[in-house]
Amino acid sequence: MGTQHPDGVLLDSRRPYLPSMRPALYKEYKDLPSVAFQIGAAAGEPSALAAIGSFSDEERAPDLNTLERILHYSAGITKKIRGYAFRAAACTGALYHIELYVVCGKISGLDAGVYHFDPKGSQLLRLREGDHRTALAEASAGNETVLHAPVTIVYTDVYWRNAIKYQARAYRHSFWDSGTILANMLAMVKSLSLRATVVMGFVDKDVAYLLGIDPMEELPLALVPLGAEAAPAQKAGSKLAEIDPDWEPKTNGRLEFPVVSRIHQETSLTNPDSVSAWVQASTSKSEGPKTQVNGLHLNTLPDSALPKDSLERVIEGRGSSRAFSRDPITLDRLATLLDRSIRPIRTDYRRLKALAQTYIIVNAVESLAPGVYQVLVSSEEPRLGLHRIRLGEFRSRAAHLALNQALGGDAAVNIYYMSDLVETLRTYGERGYRLAQLEAAVMAGWGYLAAYALGVGATGLTFLDGLVEDFLGDSADGLKVMFLLAVGVPRK
Ligand SMILES: Cc1cc2nc3c(=O)[nH]c(=O)nc-3n(C[C@H](O)[C@H](O)[C@H](O)COP(=O)(O)O)c2cc1C
Repeated sequence: MGTQHPDGVLLDSRRPYLPSMRPALYKEYKDLPSVAFQIGAAAGEPSALAAIGSFSDEERAPDLNTLERILHYSAGITKKIRGYAFRAAACTGALYHIELYVVCGKISGLDAGVYHFDPKGSQLLRLREGDHRTALAEASAGNETVLHAPVTIVYTDVYWRNAIKYQARAYRHSFWDSGTILANMLAMVKSLSLRATVVMGFVDKDVAYLLGIDPMEELPLALVPLGAEAAPAQKAGSKLAEIDPDWEPKTNGRLEFPVVSRIHQETSLTNPDSVSAWVQASTSKSEGPKTQVNGLHLNTLPDSALPKDSLERVIEGRGSSRAFSRDPITLDRLATLLDRSIRPIRTDYRRLKALAQTYIIVNAVESLAPGVYQVLVSSEEPRLGLHRIRLGEFRSRAAHLALNQALGGDAAVNIYYMSDLVETLRTYGERGYRLAQLEAAVMAGWGYLAAYALGVGATGLTFLDGLVEDFLGDSADGLKVMFLLAVGVPRK
């Protein structure tokens, strides 16, 4: 797809990236009415490990404070260290190119409207007055979940802010970096006992029109309806007017990334009929055979031994590990992390089986021989197991595969989330590319959170696609790497 590392190195030498080119990290609107957040201290419960990878079925609406917490602990600034603003979720190159919008009816404390979430000012800025949820529902071909949700969060990507450094690979980062935010958001929503679904079937340009953005410059990525009400949103009387709000920073058209534009266009849906057809075709496919876990069974930590830290505290304490000691982690911690990470995501295109398949390079896990394993997952007990592919000491190989970064070699485990892209594209059409990347990233985001909840460290890492696939050999035939998460004991 043209998004691999150029000549096996991180940055394209023909398009150098200098620190002085680092774009602004925030989309800043001018002169819009604002609603300032009042977050207060992090909640002491429920525990992070009870929320990560789980979904609630409760039908209720969030109030303003609940919505603020969801946004803050997904994409807000959670701490400042030496003037550097840390965000709730990890992001490639700390470039923070993903933007969040709120489309809501009236909820307690907040008027109906379309808002932009401004992490820098910790506030919502109103782009449109009134209830425009039916416009979003129409863009998603009458999606019932969107129609009944009091609030829907819209994810977009101002992709030039990432592509200026990573060039075409930024299209993967669209989904990786929205996936880590989404992992936090879904866990937050569960911890606040609300419903959430990830909706990927929508007319890209219609969602962009509602937000007042150019869909080729700022890419709509996902809709996340939150909460549920019995009565559906009512259609607004008048036609949706065009809006053209002013913001900074703009590229002024100087930057062009044709590979990204082309892939995004090819994976876009252009009218509600094509959305309906896509959702219909995607959900009617059969599940395929059930997986049996017949390798080494993995036992997670018993409930009584699970750390009880709350999700909000875990997110506040999170930060990608910058170095790992070579110390081992325990097998039950690894099992618990994998258990929370590899879970089905509730979506509009759902079959039960996850698109991602998981392989691990074990460098140092107590009671587990170093080597390469496939993680087996079943919907029945025993849920998790390991299939041994190759035993051996692969620290230097793991570092090499992670684009020659020591973090890969020093980690206790490298978790590779892989996907059969050919099969995914056959099932979901071109848009399947987005789903495969996003699902893997959400799972890795859950893995990130679970690692911190379990008292170990983690970081996303980039990788050399072809070499990983060669290294895994026949056992991962046809699979492509989507995301690499390295987990280990942080070096002080
Ligand atoms: C998908 C993804 C890939 C990443 N790749 C690397 C990497 O190759 N090397 C690295 O040192 N950090 C990597 N990171 C970590 C980011 O640099 C880090 O998230 C960012 O600097 C923000 O810091 P924080 O996660 O501590 O908040 C990656 C993060 C993500 C989400």
